[in-house]
Amino acid sequence: MNNIFYTGQEIDFLSLIESKKYESIYILVDAHTNECCLPVFKNVFPSFENVSSIIIPAGEVNKSIEIVQLIWNEMLTLSITRNSLIINLGGGVLTDMGSFAASTYKRGIDFLNIPTTLIAMVDASFGGKTGFNFQGVKNCIGTFQTSIATYINPIFLNTLSKRHLLNGSVEMIKHALLQSEIIWNEAKNYSLTELISIDKIKQSIAIKQQIVIQDFSDNGIRQCLNIGHTIGHAIESYSYQTTFPLLHGEAIMLGLIHEQIIAESVLNTDSIIRKELIAIKERLFPDLNFTYLIDNILPYLLQDKKNSTYIKMSLLPSIANCKIQTVVSLDELKKSFSNL
Ligand SMILES: NC(=O)c1ccc[n+]([C@@H]2O[C@H](COP(=O)([O-])OP(=O)(O)OC[C@H]3O[C@@H](n4cnc5c(N)ncnc54)[C@H](O)[C@@H]3O)[C@@H](O)[C@H]2O)c1
Repeated sequence: MNNIFYTGQEIDFLSLIESKKYESIYILVDAHTNECCLPVFKNVFPSFENVSSIIIPAGEVNKSIEIVQLIWNEMLTLSITRNSLIINLGGGVLTDMGSFAASTYKRGIDFLNIPTTLIAMVDASFGGKTGFNFQGVKNCIGTFQTSIATYINPIFLNTLSKRHLLNGSVEMIKHALLQSEIIWNEAKNYSLTELISIDKIKQSIAIKQQIVIQDFSDNGIRQCLNIGHTIGHAIESYSYQTTFPLLHGEAIMLGLIHEQIIAESVLNTDSIIRKELIAIKERLFPDLNFTYLIDNILPYLLQDKKNSTYIKMSLLPSIANCKIQTVVSLDELKKSFSNL
């Protein structure tokens, strides 16, 4: 399981790295984190002042095989050996891709993640899922490989836009839904300022960790973390074909609401959770109005199963009670659109 270090634990974090006696250490950054986060990183860790970086283009459109190849090429050009360390300094796109590139280069070299966005702090930077998008399908190619450590310091959030902060808040809302009535009743009223506090970040990380530790390979209980994501990923992928591509968290916000409509008809779930989610969306995302039709998202939901008459998803009948692999017929899916 991941070693997670928080701000204040820099000495322990550095001791871990020193104990590994790496031949060389490189930092992977994207165009934005090179500018906004690398100077902060070097300020927090002056011993890395002279470490060389590999720079890749930023953004979800670059979460691709071409950029993974670019990273591998750089690794070869720099003659990076198996006893080297890659430090991924960036958001979820960078940590997913950098971790994938490291986990496959020379059959796998060590990497660690320093997340610089909220979504990467509370979700993407630990748990072992690495990868990139392929043929329009989100995270289609990837590996399960744990980083040697993750270092969380909210100082990096100072340069992040409000839209990207809100993007990360959705995975925190999702974690609260999975945890308990007590946590949910608090979380549903959090302001963005409360959400980005170190205490709430730690709480959210602990909820995910507690689930991942039981099912690292995602064959059972870990699929609870997919609530909102079956429909959400399809909405996200479709949005890339439009003039208003959504951020991951924005699509998951819509996916969580839509999947509750499905839960109400398939599992007889009370409508209260949906109403609470809609209230959160209206409070935190007042301008998020993305429309989609069943034909827009169905190709992404079915992927290669063109003749299928159903899809399976993780649904939430009540707080802290998730039903994974719930069969939802295409008729139920169609019906949910009339209730949107
Ligand atoms: N592996 C997992 O378990 C997991 C979980 C959740 C999400 N994800 C993935 O995470 C990705 C979304 O993450 P993201 O939104 O962090 O993506 P991102 O890495 O694209 O970051 C968003 C943008 O913010 C910039 N940025 C990053 N840190 C910054 C900072 N501190 N200041 C200013 N700009 C900064 C980036 O350059 C980028 O332009 C998706 O691809 C999603 O699939 C993975």
